[in-house]
Amino acid sequence: MTAVKSDALVFFGAKGDLAYKKIFPALQGMVKHGTLDSPVIGVARGDYGIEQLRERARRSIEEYGGGVDKSAFEKLMSLLQYVGGDYNEGATFDALRKAMGDAKHPTHYLAIPPSMFSTVGEGLGNSGCALGARVVIEKPFGRDLASARSLNETLHDVFEESSIYRIDHYLGKAPVLNLLYFRFANSFLEPFWNRNHIKCVKITMAESFGVSGRGRFYEEAGAIRDVIQNHMLQVVGLIAMEPPIGGDDDAIRDEIIKIFKSIRPLDRDSLVRGQFKGYRDEDGVAPDSGVETFAAARLFVDTWRWEGVPFYVRSGKNLPVTVSEVIAELRRPPQRTFSGRTFEIGKPNYVRMRLGPDTAIALGANVLKGRGKHGPEGLDKELLITKEPDVEDIGPYELLLTEAMAGNALLFNREDGVEAAWRIVQPILGTATPVIEYEPGTWGPKEADDLIADHGGWVNPEGG
Ligand code: BG6
Repeated sequence: MTAVKSDALVFFGAKGDLAYKKIFPALQGMVKHGTLDSPVIGVARGDYGIEQLRERARRSIEEYGGGVDKSAFEKLMSLLQYVGGDYNEGATFDALRKAMGDAKHPTHYLAIPPSMFSTVGEGLGNSGCALGARVVIEKPFGRDLASARSLNETLHDVFEESSIYRIDHYLGKAPVLNLLYFRFANSFLEPFWNRNHIKCVKITMAESFGVSGRGRFYEEAGAIRDVIQNHMLQVVGLIAMEPPIGGDDDAIRDEIIKIFKSIRPLDRDSLVRGQFKGYRDEDGVAPDSGVETFAAARLFVDTWRWEGVPFYVRSGKNLPVTVSEVIAELRRPPQRTFSGRTFEIGKPNYVRMRLGPDTAIALGANVLKGRGKHGPEGLDKELLITKEPDVEDIGPYELLLTEAMAGNALLFNREDGVEAAWRIVQPILGTATPVIEYEPGTWGPKEADDLIADHGGWVNPEGG
């Protein structure tokens, strides 16, 4: 059955950071690519007017959207409306219902703090704005397993599960989707993509900037809730999943969620939390904050394919570079002799998949360099399969909003997936483990290196 296309796009949090950095640029892109031609209604709290919203959209697109495209921007401005008011008041939603006009299948995008999701969900339900609608929810979805469950229940009072689109923008990134494509569009990988040949997987998501004025948000989140529970687990899911069977939206999601369900819940010994020096001086951050800006974890995926293979993931703010990369390391060859002579070999073979800021896929191998003083010497070489600059025409938010409006749920999280992901991090949320200070511009606390010492240490990727 073909899904119904939405006939209005409503976004809550129109004055907010997410709208400024991601949504307005995505909207201009959608108009430009012909995927948005219906009313667009920005909703926000407090005083504001349509002229201010237009001005904000212009600034946002100039700063984050690669500049104003005259005709697309003018068209977007003609579609844009504004509704202001308190999310706790029915009048705000009555005004929204009016602004929606004849729309019968709106998409409501909640680009607002998680603590407001339930209130807005109820407002939409009570006012009739939810009839025939879809709802798009930003991550993090809940703060833990219990709150995610209760949020799911609240949303289900108003929306069917099939109308709920939980965003993880990593699933809208081309290099992340390429993990899936690369794995299943090639046959050479499959014979060694398992516990018999892969020794460990190392995933780094590093950012060279701090919390960039988002101290208040970050205090509620921390690295585990902000990126490990969602972005990093999606990457693990795509690397570890079995081939999907069938072509519907659930075929791929089912396999990713099976991986989430098979990951052992984290314990204290599998996690290191760090906080960069100076974080506590940020606006909105408690002077004695125990929130982590860095986390490193060792995960085990208890499936037939991956039993015993550790997946190391780490992410942090104020690290030396901004880069995301996956390294799958192969086991070493069984012997180090050649014609009866011992020879040295370099790095283990590996598959390197770079997810940002540029894209690359490469294979690491050892070759003979020649004769050295003490015998044959090897050389580490990399076979670069692809290396692309970051020139995506359609960014993740544009792709995801387009898909949500078209009713394609494939790139969104399902209720059981979100809950399974919370189950993994639940035991180590909060202050279950100490938070260790690290110097900005370093690779985090040294304890994170200890965590992976048995597997040759982290591979620190080069900057983009
Ligand atoms: C967001 C997190 O979900 O992802 C941020 O809240 C993080 O803290 C961001 O910086 C990274 O995404 P991207 O697409 O900018 O690499």
